[in-house]
Amino acid sequence: MKIALLGFGSVGQGIARVLAERDLGITITALADSKSGIIDPNGISLESVLARKEQTGSCGKTGITAEEIVRTADYDALVEVTPTNVQDGEPALSHIRTALARGKHAVTSNKGPIAIALPQLRALAQGRGVQLRYEATVCGAIPIFHTLEHGLGGNRFLAIRGVMNGTCNYILSRMAAEGLTYDQALMEARQLGYAEADPTYDVRGIDTAIKLVILANSIWGLGARLPDVDVTGIDRVTPEALSLAEKQDCTVRLIGEAIQEPSLLRVSPRILSKDHPLVVYGTLNAITLETDLAGELTFIGKGAGSRETASAVIGDLIFIRDCYVKGP
Ligand SMILES: NC(=O)c1ccc[n+]([C@@H]2O[C@H](COP(=O)([O-])OP(=O)(O)OC[C@H]3O[C@@H](n4cnc5c(N)ncnc54)[C@H](OP(=O)(O)O)[C@@H]3O)[C@@H](O)[C@H]2O)c1
Repeated sequence: MKIALLGFGSVGQGIARVLAERDLGITITALADSKSGIIDPNGISLESVLARKEQTGSCGKTGITAEEIVRTADYDALVEVTPTNVQDGEPALSHIRTALARGKHAVTSNKGPIAIALPQLRALAQGRGVQLRYEATVCGAIPIFHTLEHGLGGNRFLAIRGVMNGTCNYILSRMAAEGLTYDQALMEARQLGYAEADPTYDVRGIDTAIKLVILANSIWGLGARLPDVDVTGIDRVTPEALSLAEKQDCTVRLIGEAIQEPSLLRVSPRILSKDHPLVVYGTLNAITLETDLAGELTFIGKGAGSRETASAVIGDLIFIRDCYVKGP
């Protein structure tokens, strides 16, 4: 299977490294970062392009753009791993639309286009008989969408609750363990590279809300948008609240919760008993599915990271390769 890879940062390079290490029958024929691109119908040498990116900061030649690659390159599946833009989903949304319209499969780790335009993108993919997959957009390495669609196919999903943001979970874990203030724990998270320079999206619960929208729309076809989620972040959680919880053998976690009936989409800090399945520590994510046949299931795993996110993207690609691309 031939893929075009747009974005060559943490996730893009993680994908290239895994494909260089393992013979998965997947070849990158086109690649772009923000400044340059490279097209080779015979397959790009991944070792050389990783070395070039490290030495020069660019993956290819200036003048070859992501837009040109999407429109003209020869590939079976587009892999869109450029930065998330939750305002309008661009430029990823246009990249994915163009690829689907050309009859190419699309795989992305980018939450923007999926949160904003999932129904339209799905309709476009269905009309062209191709796949749109986005496993890496929610809870990184946890294969939540494959589980929902295949492992639990035939179930009705009554509710979904989870710890979906590693930055918030790290901050809350450290505040409880060390009695740190919110600002001290945030500074520590920044120093360790777990929090962005601007952590607003994470700590105000917006990142969790976006993931909740993607999950709810995928499961129930709601057509929900970000403003439909009732959101409270963790930036006002005090050490006193945590120590009070501690006294009752409880702790606080930022929980994203989607319930089908009565319909509810909510992100808020919640007091949970320490032995609750969603009480995970550090940057881990956890997600509980409440289903009618299988009962309750909880998945725990890494929500981010270069190789962890590559795992989800490559899982999607292998699904497409085996179901739609592989020859007889
Ligand atoms: N990192 C994670 O653990 C993780 C987990 C789940 C989901 N995600 C999502 O996955 C996506 C990629 O994340 P990341 O951590 O790899 O980001 P990153 O390290 O910032 O890399 C982004 C890459 O996209 C390139 N880029 C920016 N604008 C572009 C454009 N218009 N056309 C082509 N390439 C463009 C950048 O180019 P330059 O190299 O030239 O700057 C860079 O190579 C994001 O949407 C993120 O939210 C990430």
